[in-house]
Amino acid sequence: MSSQAVTPVRVAVLISGTGSNMAALIDAAQQTDSGYEVALVLSNIEGAGGLAVAAAKGVATATAPHRPFGKDREAHERAVDAVLRDAGIEVVALAGYMRVLTSWLVGGWRGRMLNIHPSLLPLYPGLDTHARAIAAGDAEAGCTVHLVTEGVDEGPILGQARVAIVAGDTPEALAERVKTAEHELYPRMLAAFCRDLERG
Ligand code: GAR
Repeated sequence: MSSQAVTPVRVAVLISGTGSNMAALIDAAQQTDSGYEVALVLSNIEGAGGLAVAAAKGVATATAPHRPFGKDREAHERAVDAVLRDAGIEVVALAGYMRVLTSWLVGGWRGRMLNIHPSLLPLYPGLDTHARAIAAGDAEAGCTVHLVTEGVDEGPILGQARVAIVAGDTPEALAERVKTAEHELYPRMLAAFCRDLERG
């Protein structure tokens, strides 16, 4: 084992809202020798709550609104991508980034873009995952960290965490417990991924 310090992998976290997973990713990087640093937090939503949280933690933030691009998803992604490349980003972590990506952005970051999804994929891709798990009578729910491919909430699974569904559970209560599991799982998976990353 070499004792030489390895430069942390430069990660961008993409958010659309609260950014609680993003905050967990930053905290883990700042508190432990995780092998990555959150070098940028980018949102497609101006004023997204998570941007102020990231700034308060000393992380650079950027906004790339999608609205000016109308239905042209790829044009918006080109604007996002330019910000990522300018910042020297090596790995992208989607954390509640509520945009369906085109094959252009997915292809450009293939093998270097992760997502967290609040279900035990392949169960319940898309929205309303907790309500669907409860309605199905499932005994457990959870979350998945996976590599991003062209299909929505598809792609090779890097890890999952399981949470019991209890009698009388509501989607809100379950979401809260799954979020706690997400905040533990995502930093651990991202750190492991970055440790194994082949850097050019
Ligand atoms: C998280 O539960 C995440 O798994 C989910 O959005 C939430 C974002 O919360 N992502 C998806 O549904 C993606 N398909 P956060 O902003 O507090 O991290």
